[in-house]
Amino acid sequence: MSDAAGAVVVGGASGIGAAVVDMYRARGASVLVWDIAGKPDVECDVADPDAIDRALAETLDLIGLPAQLTITAGVGHVGMLLDEPVEEWDRVIAVNTRGPWLVMRALAKASIAASAPASFIATSSVSARLVDRSMGTYCASKAALSMLVKVAASEWAPHNIRVNAVGPGVTQTPMLGEAPTGRGWWGAVEDRTPLGRLGQPGDIAQAILALHELEWVTGQVLEVDGGLALHSPIDAYGENMRQGAEVNR
Ligand SMILES: NC(=O)c1ccc[n+]([C@@H]2O[C@H](COP(=O)([O-])OP(=O)(O)OC[C@H]3O[C@@H](n4cnc5c(N)ncnc54)[C@H](O)[C@@H]3O)[C@@H](O)[C@H]2O)c1
Repeated sequence: MSDAAGAVVVGGASGIGAAVVDMYRARGASVLVWDIAGKPDVECDVADPDAIDRALAETLDLIGLPAQLTITAGVGHVGMLLDEPVEEWDRVIAVNTRGPWLVMRALAKASIAASAPASFIATSSVSARLVDRSMGTYCASKAALSMLVKVAASEWAPHNIRVNAVGPGVTQTPMLGEAPTGRGWWGAVEDRTPLGRLGQPGDIAQAILALHELEWVTGQVLEVDGGLALHSPIDAYGENMRQGAEVNR
């Protein structure tokens, strides 16, 4: 950051966002947390457009116009498409997709009015492009967010606003909640991850802070997953290795 003042982390009370906040603070940067939980500096439910306007006004009073905006606020969701209640679809999209759009738009308008450059990073997911049964609503919310980032990057580039996203793989945060943590699933995910372990919040935070600094990069979704999303599920080589067989080249 050219000026140590002026970063906002939306969803910074927990998990990946909290790791971003810790890294900023370790660097002596001034950072405000927007969240609905924990003890945020600014209360903001990103599903509520009025709350976003209020949070921006409060932020401008507290630290002025932020140069870097990171949005990690999001909700996980599990549900088969055949059974999904419309209200659940709307709730997930309102937080994971519409919320980041409204937050970025509010800050873009303020930055444009002030002729100030800015860097925005949203948190998509490898699930934006990978198909997982029972995750249709979540996958769709993140796929739309990844596209939103690209269009926003294109529309706002003339105002010197860069817009990117990170796409975490499986990362050990409270969001995993009820995920099966025994060796069965967890261990298999580790085994399928080329770098050999699950993600930690700090891994994603490191990528977010680095991406904020890349001045010639915009409209990108940087997958931060230890290589998890590189593999095809066909993976005959992996199966041969698991069976201890000679690989047929
Ligand atoms: N953990 C993973 O494996 C993983 C993988 C891919 C993507 N992600 C994404 O990373 C982001 C961060 O998730 P995490 O794993 O750190 O989870 P987390 O649950 O630890 O953190 C999410 C934060 O978002 C906040 N939040 C939720 N709804 C909100 C709302 N309406 N308004 C404001 N804040 C709200 C929560 O209070 C919480 O502080 C999410 O967007 C998630 O979809 C996580």
